[in-house]
Amino acid sequence: MANDTNVHWHEHSVTRKEREELNGHRGCVIWFTGLSACGKSTVSNLVDHKLHKRGLRSYVLDGDNVRHGLNAGPGMLKERHGEEFAKRFGLGFSAQDREENIRRIGAVAKLFADAGVLTLTAFISPYRRDRDSIRESMSEGDFVEVFVDAPIEVCEKRDPKGLYKKARAGEIKGFTGIDDPYEPPAKPELVLDAGAKEAEALADEVIAYLESSGKIS
Ligand SMILES: Nc1ncnc2c1ncn2[C@@H]1O[C@H](COP(=O)(O)OP(=O)(O)OP(=O)(O)O)[C@@H](O)[C@H]1O
Ligand SMILES: [Mg+2]
Repeated sequence: MANDTNVHWHEHSVTRKEREELNGHRGCVIWFTGLSACGKSTVSNLVDHKLHKRGLRSYVLDGDNVRHGLNAGPGMLKERHGEEFAKRFGLGFSAQDREENIRRIGAVAKLFADAGVLTLTAFISPYRRDRDSIRESMSEGDFVEVFVDAPIEVCEKRDPKGLYKKARAGEIKGFTGIDDPYEPPAKPELVLDAGAKEAEALADEVIAYLESSGKIS
């Protein structure tokens, strides 16, 4: 039963504009999406490093790290709160759980952007509808969708965590690209040719986009 009608948004005494003026740049969400092992973590961390070196405020929200904390799975919650609680609140990889995972991350990323931070997110985020609803929740220009486009054959060959191997062996069910769909963005702000180019070059493309779109100068 929803019992949240008495929860009201409280306006901040420091505005986003004031925070952005202090930082000297815009806050926004740079949302990397693509298959496992396409290079989201690698490229977003390179971009983060380049931004940081320029004295800009940036931060990477990364898939596995968030699933260790905010979006912990049932296994992690069970130890602390018992089975029933873990079942209710732990997030797995079903379509509904993936949707909730992305919804929470979108909400956190939006808060980071509001704090004036160049917020990079590195999640497979396979479903178009979930990404679109985060875009719709944000102001025009605040959501930069970056499709890290590497063919599945390339990702499967890289397979640094051995996940494709497990998925092919049937040890992981519902793995994106194998037995769960990946829906590429219809109109991403940027497409990175991640099967052919080096990660460093791709990071430079992201920086160039942020410059040309006036997010950073
Ligand atoms: N452009 C690239 N060219 C060649 N290798 C790359 C490139 N980008 C990343 N890699 C390598 O591919 C592997 C997977 O990269 P990464 O961990 O960044 O993928 P990911 O998209 O974050 O995957 P996941 O969704 O599973 O977290 C790593 O070993 C990384 O070094
Ligand atoms: Mg990653």
